[in-house]
Amino acid sequence: MKKVMFVVSLLVIGVLLVSACAAPKETAPAAPPATKTEVAPAPVTPVIPAAPVASAVDAKKLYDTNCAACHGPNRQGVTGLGKPLTPESLSLLSDDVIRTTILNGKPNTLMLGWEGRLSIEQINALIQLIKYTPP
Ligand code: HEC
Repeated sequence: MKKVMFVVSLLVIGVLLVSACAAPKETAPAAPPATKTEVAPAPVTPVIPAAPVASAVDAKKLYDTNCAACHGPNRQGVTGLGKPLTPESLSLLSDDVIRTTILNGKPNTLMLGWEGRLSIEQINALIQLIKYTPP
């Protein structure tokens, strides 16, 4: 008999737990649709085009076109021209220092400034490539 009581009380606890868990689930879906219909229509559309545009910068292509001649197709540098541009070679330079170098160039070297030729988005994408992506 004790066993039966034990099983029965387990069942009761189980039912209580299930109904306790089920209760908030029933009330929860009711709330979000109310707020969603108020917020959704306007902001969602402008946000979606923003992401593809940002990620549409093809840093590898930019590098090949603008930097590879001096820094090497595999970013290992070219003797007499440009230094290597790899996570290893740039590890001691902050993103800001690299950005300034790309924008302004380095006086008295072949490294010219790219301000006005490349957008800040393109330069940031190049920094992501040369500093954070192994060649
Ligand atoms: C005409 C050749 C030339 C081109 C093109 C060129 N660079 Fe350079 N770059 C150099 C030289 C030379 C140096 C080294 C200057 C020095 O002696 O400190 C340099 C240095 C750098 C540095 C600093 C590296 C360090 O370790 O201090 C960065 C970053 C850099 N270039 C990025 C770029 C990027 C990005 C591009 C393409 C948008 C580019 N460079 C295009 C010649 C070039």
